[in-house]
Amino acid sequence: MHFANVLEAASHYLFSLPVDMTVAIAPYILRVFALTLGFVVHTAKSAPPGFPASGNGLWYDKPGSNWVTELLPIGNGYIAAMVPGGTAQEVTQLNIESLWSGGPFADPAYNGGNHKLSEQAAVHQSLLGVRQAIFQSPDGQTSDTGLLAVDAGAYGSYASAGNLITTMNVTGSVSNYFRWLDLDEAVARTSWTQGNQPILRESFCAHPTQSCTQHTSTTSRTTLPAITYAFSPLSLVADGLPAPSVTCLDSSTLQLTGLVAAPGMAYEILAKVGTVGGSVTCTSVTGTDGSSLNATITVVDSTESWVTWVGGTNFDLNAGDEAHNFSFKGPDPHPSLVQLLSAASKPASALFQAHLDDLKATFSSESFSLILGQGPSRSDLARPTSDLIDAYQIAYPGTISGGNLYLENLLFNYGRYLLWSSARGVLPANLQGKWANGYGNPWSADYHVNINLQMNYWPAESTGLDVTKSLFDYMEKNWAPRGAYTAQVLYNISRGWVVHNEIFGHTGMKAGGPLWANYPEAAAWMMIHVWDHFDYMNDVAWWKSQGWPLLKGVAEFQLDKLIPDLRFNDSTLVVNPCNSPEQSPITEGCSHAMQLIWQLFNAVEKGFAASGDTDTAFLQEVRDKRARMDKGIHIGSWGQLQEWKVDMDSPTDTHRHLSHLIGVYPGYAVSEYTPSIQGPIVVNGTRTSYTTQQVIDAATVSLIHRGNGTGPDADSGWEKVWRAAMWAQLDNGDEFYHELTYALYENFAANLFSVYDSSASIFQIDANFGFTGAVMNALIQASDVPSLSTPLTIKLLPAIPTQWANGSIRGARVRGGITVDMQWSGGKLTKSTLNVDRNARSRPVRVVYQGRQIASFSTSPGSTRSLRV
Ligand SMILES: *[C@@H]1O[C@H](CO)[C@@H](O)[C@H](O)[C@H]1NC(C)=O
Ligand SMILES: *[C@@H]1O[C@H](CO)[C@@H](O)[C@H](O)[C@H]1NC(C)=O
Ligand SMILES: *[C@@H]1O[C@H](CO)[C@@H](O)[C@H](O)[C@H]1NC(C)=O
Ligand SMILES: *[C@@H]1O[C@H](CO)[C@@H](O)[C@H](O)[C@H]1NC(C)=O
Ligand SMILES: *[C@@H]1O[C@H](CO)[C@@H](O)[C@H](O)[C@H]1NC(C)=O
Ligand SMILES: *[C@@H]1O[C@H](CO)[C@@H](O)[C@H](O)[C@H]1NC(C)=O
Ligand SMILES: *[C@@H]1O[C@H](CO)[C@@H](O)[C@H](O)[C@H]1NC(C)=O
Ligand SMILES: *[C@@H]1O[C@H](CO)[C@@H](O)[C@H](O)[C@H]1NC(C)=O
Repeated sequence: MHFANVLEAASHYLFSLPVDMTVAIAPYILRVFALTLGFVVHTAKSAPPGFPASGNGLWYDKPGSNWVTELLPIGNGYIAAMVPGGTAQEVTQLNIESLWSGGPFADPAYNGGNHKLSEQAAVHQSLLGVRQAIFQSPDGQTSDTGLLAVDAGAYGSYASAGNLITTMNVTGSVSNYFRWLDLDEAVARTSWTQGNQPILRESFCAHPTQSCTQHTSTTSRTTLPAITYAFSPLSLVADGLPAPSVTCLDSSTLQLTGLVAAPGMAYEILAKVGTVGGSVTCTSVTGTDGSSLNATITVVDSTESWVTWVGGTNFDLNAGDEAHNFSFKGPDPHPSLVQLLSAASKPASALFQAHLDDLKATFSSESFSLILGQGPSRSDLARPTSDLIDAYQIAYPGTISGGNLYLENLLFNYGRYLLWSSARGVLPANLQGKWANGYGNPWSADYHVNINLQMNYWPAESTGLDVTKSLFDYMEKNWAPRGAYTAQVLYNISRGWVVHNEIFGHTGMKAGGPLWANYPEAAAWMMIHVWDHFDYMNDVAWWKSQGWPLLKGVAEFQLDKLIPDLRFNDSTLVVNPCNSPEQSPITEGCSHAMQLIWQLFNAVEKGFAASGDTDTAFLQEVRDKRARMDKGIHIGSWGQLQEWKVDMDSPTDTHRHLSHLIGVYPGYAVSEYTPSIQGPIVVNGTRTSYTTQQVIDAATVSLIHRGNGTGPDADSGWEKVWRAAMWAQLDNGDEFYHELTYALYENFAANLFSVYDSSASIFQIDANFGFTGAVMNALIQASDVPSLSTPLTIKLLPAIPTQWANGSIRGARVRGGITVDMQWSGGKLTKSTLNVDRNARSRPVRVVYQGRQIASFSTSPGSTRSLRV
């Protein structure tokens, strides 16, 4: 847009509107005008007028068409939408967080992939046989897991709820086109001029009202062209589904109802249209049999029009227990949707203001911000985000070329935006957050619990986002109830619970190869998140009511699963059978499992006092077995950290997962290796002790040999950002930045969604979140420690790349209820402040910068301390 046009548009915005209309759309227009004034740019391209001055947004000069790579996401956790930024026609794709095609809704006999109780004795005999085979085989392996796995049954997939179609009766050429996603206000905007009219369409999802709104306005004196609103559901009649019903609930409300499978879950969306001026009519089309085939709402002669929608299903997270026969079935969503819509029946400006107030309280840059470099430059803002992505280059160690601070900063912010927009509903963020276009989606867009779900939450605590409630509720209500049954029937363990993976209380071990499904440590890994939440926030009431019961249940199961190692006969306890997630062989004493269980037992000890639990026998048993268990740390024949207790790693194994390095990041069993409690071990009958440095060196050897995240079946973003986070943990800024920039180069699309590989046909959100988490790990670290009396080591700028010589961060969180603000310049820390929460508990802390301790003290709640370098 040229300068002259900007001014012209701005004067229109402010002075040409009727007074009542100026009031109605003031929040939008005033912002557009204010920012426009600062925008005196003479280049051919510049960010749209109204684009955030902070640069915190994505913008384009063409509408999007490819769902995976171009559409822009908005959401409030309950519902979500993908916005193409169309002009005369806008096809907004809709999601409802619980819309899932499988489970008990699709099959009344669905039982979470478990054996029948009557099979328990046979299954347990089979397990004993598998264990014996592994202990006795020459290579410590088996490929036969007997009766353990079960067909997953009606597994299903997370599914789209169809599209909302907005059509304007306007023709003619389009000029001054822009679309953008404003991350400061969490709103998608499209502006253009057509038929001599400047038009602005804005879409946002408000959390307080659980609704989304699309608002269309013009700054010209004339009224808007006629607008029609309609639904276009997924057409699944060919798949045997009944056609959804679309009708007029009243003269300004569309109602869409349907089934996502037959039989299957029912869903409903209600969309109410509002206007300033003009008139609204709803017209429906009825079939000869009386069925509701279609309906459209038409608005004419308005100066402003909007549609607000709410959506739900008959899923109920509170009905996933034995008392509800694990049905997850709730009531028809209609009455509660009517209530929600009624509460959201306000002018769009009021809904937007409520959205901004919520945003200010939960997400604003006032409480958290990262600025890499010195903020966006004019040239950064002069190029659409798609151009920035296209031009992006990998940075190589030892060079200063490659990378783009602005784009990296934006992608970092986007990770926070996506988590905030997808996790604040009833269910946690899934493999695609809450955005999914298809009926069946890649890997069902489910909850993969062997790195993916975990990575989704990497940025949660560290960047101060209060988004974990749905995650913890999900563990408590979706997994634990049936997980106790699985523990019993599969392992003959009558306390605690286990989950192997995923959705609708699917707790069993899936058929199709133990490689994928033999993963009873899934919940042990999730307990990092449970423990961390308490360790960061010190919310004792939450710990007593939810955190501790989750931790205890998982620990009880794992206590009973440990057995004496009858292969090495080294007096240790191990797991058997086990395999690293998604990788063979099936063996015993897998490092991944042992490191996680050791960390889990430490968390039990650290959290016991605050839990109010008086079960000291349990605590004693945890201490006893923790002392006797194999800790999963063995250095092998080529200097590697062994992936399995039997030394059989291949130096050319470039598998995507870094399972045995879990103790580097996000765990601490390796990075904080403590010889006095994790050693010594018995190797070939000889007691051996490793130093911390030896263990870290071995992990580094393994990380190097694991490659850069481009092995066989391995080019995804999550494996690269995991590697980046590991290199940061190893204080290597060069390798951290190389992997980070490699991920950005290879695995991020024009809309900054992370894509599974360079063919960009599959969206998988984990790397969006992992990117943000990995960046945090390069800027500040405070790894967990085995006991509360062990000082917490806070490392400032441990792996800052040369390219990030200048910057600042505010509101970074570390465990211990500590918030860190810091600035750096020329690659050197210039200022840092530690703030300790008022409700934190005092604990010993060391602050380390450039390998040197710069402070050491006990924290006092409510205190602030400036640090000198
Ligand atoms: C409970 O669910 C099982 C399938 O898991 C089903 O076979 C049984 O009929 C259900 N019982 C009742 C009372 O609904
Ligand atoms: C299951 O465990 C119980 C008690 O721990 C034991 O008595 C029983 O023999 C075990 N069942 C099988 C099939 O091993
Ligand atoms: C659409 O625009 C055309 C041309 O201006 C007009 O003739 C027609 O009546 C309009 N339709 C509606 C539904 O307003
Ligand atoms: C309803 O009509 C609109 C407008 O013609 C169309 O785009 C949409 O696909 C139709 N929806 C259904 C459910 O047939
Ligand atoms: C380990 O001990 C068990 C039980 O005492 C024994 O059966 C087995 O042969 C021993 N294994 C080795 C490798 O010595
Ligand atoms: C342990 O003994 C085995 C068999 O003798 C040998 O192959 C292996 O290298 C030894 N391991 C170490 C660490 O000495
Ligand atoms: C990644 O590793 C592969 C295999 O070693 C190598 O060919 C490739 O150049 C590396 N790419 C990057 C960007 O480091
Ligand atoms: C960091 O800031 C200094 C001082 O403003 C400037 O001279 C230097 O070029 C900046 N470095 C980078 C890499 O941006």
